[in-house]
Amino acid sequence: MPGTCGHQAPAWSAGPIEDRTRTRRPTPTSQETRVDLYEYQAKDLFAAHDVPVLPGDVASTPAEAKAIAERFGQTVVVKAQVKTGGRGKAGGVKLAETPAETEVKADAILGLDIKGHVVHRVLVTPASDIAEEYYFSFLLDRANRTFLAMASVEGGMDIEEVAATKPEALAKVPVDAVKGVDRAKADEIVAAARFPAEVADQVADVIVKLWETFVSEDATLVEVNPLVRDPEGKIVALDGKVTLDENASFRHPAHEALVDKQAEDPLEAKAKEKGLNYVKLDGQVGIIGNGAGLVMSTLDVVAYAGEKHKGVKPANFLDIGGGASAEVMANGLDIILHDPDVRSVFVNVFGGITSCDAVANGIVAALGILGDQATKPLVVRLDGNNVEEGRRILADAAHPLVTVVDTMDNAADKAAELAAAGV
Ligand SMILES: Nc1ncnc2c1ncn2[C@@H]1O[C@H](COP(=O)(O)OP(=O)(O)OP(=O)(O)O)[C@@H](O)[C@H]1O
Ligand SMILES: [Mg+2]
Repeated sequence: MPGTCGHQAPAWSAGPIEDRTRTRRPTPTSQETRVDLYEYQAKDLFAAHDVPVLPGDVASTPAEAKAIAERFGQTVVVKAQVKTGGRGKAGGVKLAETPAETEVKADAILGLDIKGHVVHRVLVTPASDIAEEYYFSFLLDRANRTFLAMASVEGGMDIEEVAATKPEALAKVPVDAVKGVDRAKADEIVAAARFPAEVADQVADVIVKLWETFVSEDATLVEVNPLVRDPEGKIVALDGKVTLDENASFRHPAHEALVDKQAEDPLEAKAKEKGLNYVKLDGQVGIIGNGAGLVMSTLDVVAYAGEKHKGVKPANFLDIGGGASAEVMANGLDIILHDPDVRSVFVNVFGGITSCDAVANGIVAALGILGDQATKPLVVRLDGNNVEEGRRILADAAHPLVTVVDTMDNAADKAAELAAAGV
């Protein structure tokens, strides 16, 4: 639906459904990352779960779009593939009666800027005759700690309008995570939204399949707007939006292919490849720590210290976890040193099971591995298990880029000062 996919909460979700606000960057605190799918990808998933969709193909040039229309040999719809809503209203969804017209329409849509999203691809799909347009979604309702089904018989492009002006026309039915959605629950949703009797069975059937999609793909949003009834009475998902929970990606190897590599931050992509928990931020002080809590407080102390040093800020979140081996440390440093915004690096480690001497050896070895690539000053603060030995190892190594500082506050101040000197 307009306004929901990507980065913007629709007016009607201003209340409790905070999950619908999709931010580009995950907040490091939540450790949550999500993958928004394009419409064509969402529909591929739907099809895999037997949700009725129309066939379609993706084109990145007008000539390719024309060739697809020739294959379908009928009137088609050319649809901008961007991860934002309101494509129709922005001129990103157009009907084309002939292959030649498809080429012209694709040419008009490709390159369009829809709310800051440039269209690089269009979906070409057969045009469907539409008798009625409905709205349906499953989503994670964090505020109420439940899943939620939302459905309306007044779907289409203006669902936000419906929700704002006629909230009674949008049924909201909580779904118990354990019980899920069986046929009886689907019937309850259909009744709550007052779907016409002649489509009730079919819609309930589609709702059960959408729930299967939602659960088995580990999605946090599955949305169909419009879900249509064609003149023959058949129910079809004409549009689709899906957000996947990336924390579950380990059990979905196939989802890897759905990630838009082009749109990903290259450093974040590299970090992901190395299994590092890294989020790029806007500042100049690179941060490495062990444990999400410690790294979060490191971001805070650096931001605070930066106020006295030209307003420098943390450049990233990077949690190297418990076992700070030389290799992990080298991978972490490698990512951070390749961030052109970084002017200094603050390594903040609290030795626990992996003791400070092991971490110190890790840092020394990492600098050895990186050699000439290590070019920015490092401030290291070690504390915890076997700290004296750790500090001794760093002192003995006497690496010209490394400054050891004993307390977290002083180390943050030093790192901010060094970053400010390089700004
Ligand atoms: N295959 C199709 N055949 C006929 N009409 C279509 C087809 N696909 C879309 N439409 C029409 O275009 C309208 C907009 O399409 P769609 O829902 O995909 O985009 P949108 O709602 O503008 O975008 P978004 O969902 O991203 O906000 C639909 O409500 C429907 O009326
Ligand atoms: Mg839509």
